[in-house]
Amino acid sequence: MPTLFDTASRIVLGTATFGVAPVADDVPTLVHGALERGINFFDTANSYGNQPEYDQPSIAPHTMRQSSEELLGPAISGIRDEVYVASKVGEPLGAARADGPFVGLLTREHIVEQLDSSLRRLRTDRIDLYYAHLPDLRTPLEETVSAFDDLITAGKIGAWGISNFSAAQTERVVRTAREIGARPPAAHQVRYSLAEREAEDTGVTAAAQAFGIPILAYSPMAGGLLGGRMAADRNYIGHKRWGGEGFTAHQIARGRRFAALADEWDLTPSSVALAWLLGRQGVAGAVVGTSSLSNLDEACRAVGCTLDTEQLRMLDELRFDDDHLYPATAERT
Ligand SMILES: NC(=O)c1ccc[n+]([C@@H]2O[C@H](COP(=O)([O-])OP(=O)(O)OC[C@H]3O[C@@H](n4cnc5c(N)ncnc54)[C@H](OP(=O)(O)O)[C@@H]3O)[C@@H](O)[C@H]2O)c1
Repeated sequence: MPTLFDTASRIVLGTATFGVAPVADDVPTLVHGALERGINFFDTANSYGNQPEYDQPSIAPHTMRQSSEELLGPAISGIRDEVYVASKVGEPLGAARADGPFVGLLTREHIVEQLDSSLRRLRTDRIDLYYAHLPDLRTPLEETVSAFDDLITAGKIGAWGISNFSAAQTERVVRTAREIGARPPAAHQVRYSLAEREAEDTGVTAAAQAFGIPILAYSPMAGGLLGGRMAADRNYIGHKRWGGEGFTAHQIARGRRFAALADEWDLTPSSVALAWLLGRQGVAGAVVGTSSLSNLDEACRAVGCTLDTEQLRMLDELRFDDDHLYPATAERT
């Protein structure tokens, strides 16, 4: 039977910063421009866009902004059958987000209730791929897995996926699905780029491959670090876009070295970053965050770009990972 990945584009447009970058008025142009370029896969979540940590001084505050789902919904309403929509449940919302600990919320009740809210915000009757955004260490896995499976049976979601699960957690999910006769996750969305290879180092990508789960790499440009020499000069880049730290001097130096290599090869940094990622075993797609149509053009060009063995070797030597760009996944769960 054909799967989502047979017809969905390998470049997925991430929408975490919708409402901020792009601002609300520019969302329809970006979404329609993506589809014109062959990008038919959009990634959102019930927690994206209008959280306080996304606020920037020149942009309307979160209380005045619509969420990412509320902005994406109208933009795809006339083209719903031409696109795939992924959304997520499980990140804390509202006060629970600020108070911490930052743990997943994957009870049956929460999943079902949040799906209905997401469908309403997205103005649609189905979500093609619905992720568990973070592992929930308190809810029995049987409850979570059977809740997602029942939503597929009900036709409200096409498939379900996991995100930010460790290798051991992935294995437990697959084992649980087998034990209760439920469908296994159809995708694992992991933070993965040339500059952030923790998913390889910790066996997450290997586990996904072992269980035949396609990997969707998020933050494939390392939040902009791999986008060229100008990254360091931007105020809102990397984790800073959602209230975190900026890049270290070491990371910026590596980013510049990376951009220089791309120049030597007469390629753009983003083509190299995305071609590297899309060439990794098990990687079905890259979830790119951009507010610019020209950067989407760049991303599309990378799909046809192949790096040779010597280029791959030189990229392997570019070690970014003495400093982690983001807190390790384990610390966030
Ligand atoms: N599952 C999860 O827990 C999780 C976590 C984080 C993110 N995500 C998903 O992944 C998506 C992308 O995350 P991200 O924004 O961190 O990804 P990213 O693509 O690594 O970073 C986006 C940044 O890179 C820049 N950029 C993008 N393409 C570029 C290009 N061709 N040349 C130069 N710069 C470029 C963008 O600037 P411009 O806007 O100027 O292009 C933006 O500042 C999110 O929207 C969300 O859907 C999922």
